[in-house]
Amino acid sequence: MSLYTAVLRPLLFRLDAETVHRASIGLGHALGWSRGLLAPLCAARDPRLATTLAGLPLASPVGLAAGYDKSGEAVRFLSALGFGFLEIGSVSAEPSSGNPRPRLWRLPEDEAIAVHYGLPNDGAAAIAARLADVRLAVPLGINLVKTNRGLDAPPDPDDEIIADYVRSTRLLKDAAGYLTYNLSCPNTETGRDFFADKAHVARLLAALAPLEIGRPVFLKISPLGGVAHIEDVLEAAEPFDFVSGFIFNLPSSKPETLKTPKHVWHNLPGAVSGRPVSALIDARITEMYRRMDRARYQIIGAGGIYSAEDAYAKIRRGASAVQIYTALVYRGPGVVRSINRGLGQLLARDGLAHIGEAVGVDGD
Ligand SMILES: Cc1cc2nc3c(=O)[nH]c(=O)nc-3n(C[C@H](O)[C@H](O)[C@H](O)COP(=O)(O)O)c2cc1C
Repeated sequence: MSLYTAVLRPLLFRLDAETVHRASIGLGHALGWSRGLLAPLCAARDPRLATTLAGLPLASPVGLAAGYDKSGEAVRFLSALGFGFLEIGSVSAEPSSGNPRPRLWRLPEDEAIAVHYGLPNDGAAAIAARLADVRLAVPLGINLVKTNRGLDAPPDPDDEIIADYVRSTRLLKDAAGYLTYNLSCPNTETGRDFFADKAHVARLLAALAPLEIGRPVFLKISPLGGVAHIEDVLEAAEPFDFVSGFIFNLPSSKPETLKTPKHVWHNLPGAVSGRPVSALIDARITEMYRRMDRARYQIIGAGGIYSAEDAYAKIRRGASAVQIYTALVYRGPGVVRSINRGLGQLLARDGLAHIGEAVGVDGD
């Protein structure tokens, strides 16, 4: 048991989840100066973990998932925790205050989070200004999404949805190591359905093509449409060679298998992260890996990773890299280092010289 799980977590879990989240970002921001001290303690230094993601060199395949540092406030500190890469956002063209509070709950029996944030963020222009003089030792992904104008706002016309992504891309592409397009936010009306139609995915990519993004692009898609949606997305992406891979987002519906009593979560809006979504995401990774052009695309696997074994399982199914979020809440920041260390041990156990050799070994 770590200091975090024994002492800090019980204290933090007595406080409102969003208050703790905000405070941790504030602390991370304030501790940015400490990265030079922290990085040597936490950095992944096992050469067997070094890999590439869409051409970007990573010291470890373990990254931070979108949604923790939504507006890129704590990236200096976060970059020193042992992550191989960070993803901030989701960021929208305009600032958004997201959905009304409360909008974040812990489900400890499931080591899960119920989230209905609705994409609060400072907006692309402010975040571009914030990142202008930031230089990190790890690649920084920026996750883009359409502005959420509130639950009562009238639906945006299709052209405006596409134009929102184009605006945020223009403002943020130069600050990014890679861009992720969130096509599947489970917490907003537009996020849920618009990109279920492959014509809309194709239309977005056609609008992005002239922007000469010049960095890899990942599409974060819904895990709910099954094989049909995977095939639709692959078909839509095919002509656009700037698309380098895929991530599966949280499902918008609650998993069937929650241990938390139904009366606790039944009336909570939003999606569930963490352990309960792991099996669904794993199945989607396998289905995507079987169908995609492996010479062109890579998968980032996220959903219910708490340990090296969990990360390794997603990699063996076909993910080239993984991301974590909920594990930070339940295991603390030391989880990154422990996953890195454990991955090295798993490679040694299996006689593999390099993490890339494990990608997809259970995939076919
Ligand atoms: C509180 C919270 C907020 C999130 N916000 C976003 C977001 O803004 N954009 C996004 O693409 N994914 C978001 N996610 C999804 C995560 O990036 C990740 O895909 C998911 O949580 C699965 O990983 P985990 O089980 O390790 O948390 C969020 C997840 C949580 C728990």
